[in-house]
Amino acid sequence: MARPKITVVGAGNVGATVAQYAVEKELGDVVLVDVIEGIPQGKALDLAQAGPVHGFDSSLVGTNGYDETADSDVVVITAGMARKPGMTRDDLLFKNAEIVGSVVEQVARRSRTAILVLVTNPLDAMVQLAWKKSGFPAERVIGMAGVLDSARFRTFIARELDVSVENVTAFVLGGHGDTMVPLPRYSTVAGIPITDLLSKERIDALVARTANGGAEIVNFLKSGSAYYAPGASAVEMVEAILKDKKKILPCAAYLNGQYGVRGLYVGVPVKLGRSGVEQIVEITLTPDEQAAFKKSADAVRELVDKLKL
Ligand code: LAC
Repeated sequence: MARPKITVVGAGNVGATVAQYAVEKELGDVVLVDVIEGIPQGKALDLAQAGPVHGFDSSLVGTNGYDETADSDVVVITAGMARKPGMTRDDLLFKNAEIVGSVVEQVARRSRTAILVLVTNPLDAMVQLAWKKSGFPAERVIGMAGVLDSARFRTFIARELDVSVENVTAFVLGGHGDTMVPLPRYSTVAGIPITDLLSKERIDALVARTANGGAEIVNFLKSGSAYYAPGASAVEMVEAILKDKKKILPCAAYLNGQYGVRGLYVGVPVKLGRSGVEQIVEITLTPDEQAAFKKSADAVRELVDKLKL
């Protein structure tokens, strides 16, 4: 049986890391696309040559065009500019809208049944744009943000309590931006809510660090933004889709009344499987959490309105 086909658009750090983790897990064959001549070809060939060492048989192709992407099962879109120090994700809005818009047109017409996983910032607005441009049903256009934001929160909780990251689950809802909504009540260590384990001050500090998690890394790297954890997070979604795991993960999904939001992509828990978003999981929020979620959704709406979507 042929292996699933995964296209990764953008062969920068995030795209190359997505390709790497995807073939290391043997999730499928990978086509790596980028506009810069030689980069996708070189990285794909280099990564393929890690196959004998790491023991994966996935094939890798690098290209500057889109014909090789035809009939992909999943397309991960990482193309766009990364943040520079001092820039917000929203500064990237217009530049990346242009890039993502043209990428989606190219991939959607060659892979009519693919599931699109968006990674480019500002994330929630880019997913909304990709959904509009592709003409795909909303359940097949999904954004990666909550998995990353939750992974950061989990890392900080595990370090704070000196426990295994595997014991820690966490939920971060809302848009991928300064208004994201980490939910301590639903964040647990071996099933115990962190609200029973940490003081409010410590939780507030970890929540603030999570919301600032991307910028913290940009400030260290200076000339780029995070890519290992974003790459790993996108690949967790690809795996859930291709293996039809029905995994509950926080993703940017199209809301049609859920959580009091209509006609907008925002981060919520969803069930991911072979059809894409198979269910939007609605959890009960306290009035404070609901207010924070609404504020976050309003911030996304503002960007979407700027793009006239
Ligand atoms: C981050 C940027 C990429 O969160 O949004 O690292």
